[in-house]
Amino acid sequence: MKGIILAGGAGTRLYPATIAVSKQMMAIYDKPMIYYPLSVLMLAGIKEILIISTPHDLPNFEKLLGDGSDIGMKFSYKVQPEPNGLAEAFIIGDEFIGDDSVAMILGDNIYYSAGLTGILKDACKIKKGGHIFAYHVPDPERFGVVDFDKNGKVLSIEEKPEHPKSSYAIPGLYFYGPEVVKEAKNLAPSPRGELEITDLNRKFLDRGELEVTVLPRGLAWLDTGTHAAMIKANNYVQIMQEMTGMNIACVEEIAYRQGWIDDKKLDAAIEKMGKSSYADYLRRVEREAKK
Ligand code: G1P
Repeated sequence: MKGIILAGGAGTRLYPATIAVSKQMMAIYDKPMIYYPLSVLMLAGIKEILIISTPHDLPNFEKLLGDGSDIGMKFSYKVQPEPNGLAEAFIIGDEFIGDDSVAMILGDNIYYSAGLTGILKDACKIKKGGHIFAYHVPDPERFGVVDFDKNGKVLSIEEKPEHPKSSYAIPGLYFYGPEVVKEAKNLAPSPRGELEITDLNRKFLDRGELEVTVLPRGLAWLDTGTHAAMIKANNYVQIMQEMTGMNIACVEEIAYRQGWIDDKKLDAAIEKMGKSSYADYLRRVEREAKK
């Protein structure tokens, strides 16, 4: 299973905050936003990840994350020259995906819950078709929306409908079999000129090859699409971290606990984090692991 983080888009909804800085590079409390989706792919057990961003922003992501070897992973990078839609990621990632299944996560999506790893591991079993998620929200018109009948059978999938048929949004986390590349190449651009992930999912749905898992209500899916949503995400991470003494999306910790890096590499990561509270936290993780 390969992973893609799509960190493109012009971010105009957050202007002027995102004129010079990529949205996915902005801090959510104590770490760059992209750490959160990266941690999700790591918890799924995915070690090979393609990061896609704009020509302007990609070099900064490379500077931040490097080749991934610091955390026992393998990162590669590709440009999305124009914001031509989420489904274009599979065309850009053609060679990278090869004959493997692939998970794609949007670089501005944050997920956190106790049962998340199990949900992810389950979705990773995919060999063919698509597997997406549904999450109850108060404002479904801002998202892709999935509607079910009373037996849980999917009736429709729509992109940002004016009159949503349900309150279930489709979060930006998608799992597909390797044929997704071919399917993405066959998509026609939508009226707004983009290759829509919703059209791709509808293709799989029409063929009876789309699984939709409703995420449990205890799970937090934090969207960062507005300034207010960003503040909420910041507050959520701060409160959770301070209350539990455990950090969300600390990628070095995840790598260490999964056995992808040893003490030496963790020590190097701590050194790199300078005098930050992030470094203090990693020191504590190592101390506690050695007890
Ligand atoms: C995209 C997708 C939408 C999905 C959302 C999740 O919208 O098009 O279907 O629900 O991500 O974050 P965007 O936020 O790029 O407008």
